[in-house]
Amino acid sequence: MNTYIRSIGSYIPKKRVTNDELAERIDTSDEWIRSHTGIGARHIADDDEATSDLGYRAAVDALESGGVDIQEIGGIIAATATPDHFGFPSTACIIQDRLKAQPGFAFDVTAGCSGFIYGLEIARGMLQLKDADNILVIGAEKLTSVVDWDDRNSVLFGDAGGAVVLSRLNGAEEGLRGIIDSKLHADGSGAEALMVASGGSRRPMKDGPYDIAEVTLRMQGRRVYNFAVSVIVGTLRSMMERNGLTIDDVDYIVPHQANIRILQAAAKRLGFPFEKFYVNIEDLANTSAASIPVALKEMERKGLLRRGARIMTIGFGAGLTYGGNVIIW
Ligand code: UT7
Repeated sequence: MNTYIRSIGSYIPKKRVTNDELAERIDTSDEWIRSHTGIGARHIADDDEATSDLGYRAAVDALESGGVDIQEIGGIIAATATPDHFGFPSTACIIQDRLKAQPGFAFDVTAGCSGFIYGLEIARGMLQLKDADNILVIGAEKLTSVVDWDDRNSVLFGDAGGAVVLSRLNGAEEGLRGIIDSKLHADGSGAEALMVASGGSRRPMKDGPYDIAEVTLRMQGRRVYNFAVSVIVGTLRSMMERNGLTIDDVDYIVPHQANIRILQAAAKRLGFPFEKFYVNIEDLANTSAASIPVALKEMERKGLLRRGARIMTIGFGAGLTYGGNVIIW
């Protein structure tokens, strides 16, 4: 039984900060950031906007653009590394209440920048088990809530929300379209490579005060870069092999948008034309779990997601986690 992406939504905060604006504050430059990452700007949520607000707006966009009534939604999965609150309650529950959804399930998934791919696969399983007919899968992040603006290593991140309605396919279309395969992986030995050190149960905030470096995101950039290139190559190769695909059969690879150089290095190692990778990092920077659904929405607007197109997603991030999907649109 197949499941398919019925509709897509996104929300990008209006406020935009360019590299040049950042360079007025810290020791960096537009030239450095662009040449090392492909990033030109990032969008930043308002002070009174939280991750659930970004996810809610993306969800409304997904429902409206697919003509889906909220009462059809049986459950909500929110992938985020920057929840409104740490576990009490989940961001998905806050979104459920705002959407006035029926009392189906609602929970968060924590898998760093691979969160949307993890969420999609959990939803696919739940649809097959008939836990619901339609599930909202949201990837939303207010990453700037954990960015130290005085740390030049942290200039890569931005805020955004993306969402899809994932539905069960029945009847004649079954087997002809939808998510046909996924791979999910983690290598917890890399946990420290991308971490917010304090604020959780290991080093509770109540025992503070803490240095800003302890409550904001710290990344071992080179280590994560090397990990990312290697898992993109390995995961795409194995998903293609297992589905009998060559790069000529694939219309687009939709990767997590962390650094254009990571994608170029992976494409080179795979021998794939770089044009097959959909890239939108220039204006949005790294939006973690939101980046793949936001990219899909942009592709839909550009008419790139024609029926029958073969799409592969690939994600990698904190955990360290990685994974991907093979989708026939
Ligand atoms: O989404 C989750 C997954 N995240 C990723 O995949 C990101 C993976 N990592 C990366 O994309 C890259 O490693 C970075 C963009 C984070 C860093 O680029 P890099 O080419 O690996 O630079 P580096 O960390 O090796 O640093 C080289 C130099 C250092 O200076 P020194 O020590 O050589 O004097 C850094 O301090 O570049 C410096 N640097 C900067 N200079 C100006 C680092 N960030 C900046 C900056 N502006 N923004």
